[in-house]
Amino acid sequence: MLNLVIFGAPGSGKGTQSERLISEYGLLHISTGDVLRDHIKRGTELGVTARQYIDKGQLVPDGLIIDILAQVLDDNKERACEGVIFDGFPRTIPQAQALERLLGERGTKVHAVVGLEVDEQELIDRLVKRGKESGRSDDNEATIRKRLEVYHNQTSPLREFYQERGLYKAIHGVGTIDDIFADIKRALAAIEA
Ligand code: AP5
Ligand code: MG
Repeated sequence: MLNLVIFGAPGSGKGTQSERLISEYGLLHISTGDVLRDHIKRGTELGVTARQYIDKGQLVPDGLIIDILAQVLDDNKERACEGVIFDGFPRTIPQAQALERLLGERGTKVHAVVGLEVDEQELIDRLVKRGKESGRSDDNEATIRKRLEVYHNQTSPLREFYQERGLYKAIHGVGTIDDIFADIKRALAAIEA
């Protein structure tokens, strides 16, 4: 069983590399961003609340997102037992502490954190480019800049949080998708055994 966190700034390739990791390791993919966008699409009460934050590039409050994550884990108990890739969660120290608790209660833990490291200009270029096609409401230049600011202030401290626990695997996230994935596999080979 392998529980991974895929970590990095907006546009660093978390979703892209998650797809590869899912097929390689047979993991359950939990992207909190995807869960929230699904609620928005379905017009649920949670979706209406989440949209107010997402469209401004701000984080949805910790309490709300932690409850959502616990619910997704409970709804997918059997698959979660085989290992999970957490994409876009945790994003704050309280979320990381909650993840330790939620996995601990289920008799497991985070085995590794894959940190995709990409320079700021490349992140902006990727997201602006995607914004022209994706229709994602937060892929416009003003919101992209806000998302990056929020990442630096609230999320990047998690790098140290996981380094202290010996879990952080730094990956250079620029280059071809295949080359980056090969680096990730190499970094995970040691803990896979
Ligand atoms: P979320 O959905 O998690 O978005 P994000 O972190 O802003 O990141 P993206 O999904 O845009 O990027 P990614 O790293 O997945 O990269 P991707 O593979 O798509 O969160 C959205 C919002 O939801 C947040 O702002 C917040 O409001 C809310 N939210 C979500 N989780 C939350 C939480 N835990 N707490 C509070 N709020 C939360 O790639 C990006 C682009 O680059 C794509 O076009 C891709 O094709 C391209 N690309 C990928 N790899 C490469 C490569 N190697 N070379 C060139 N291009 C590449
Ligand atoms: Mg994503």
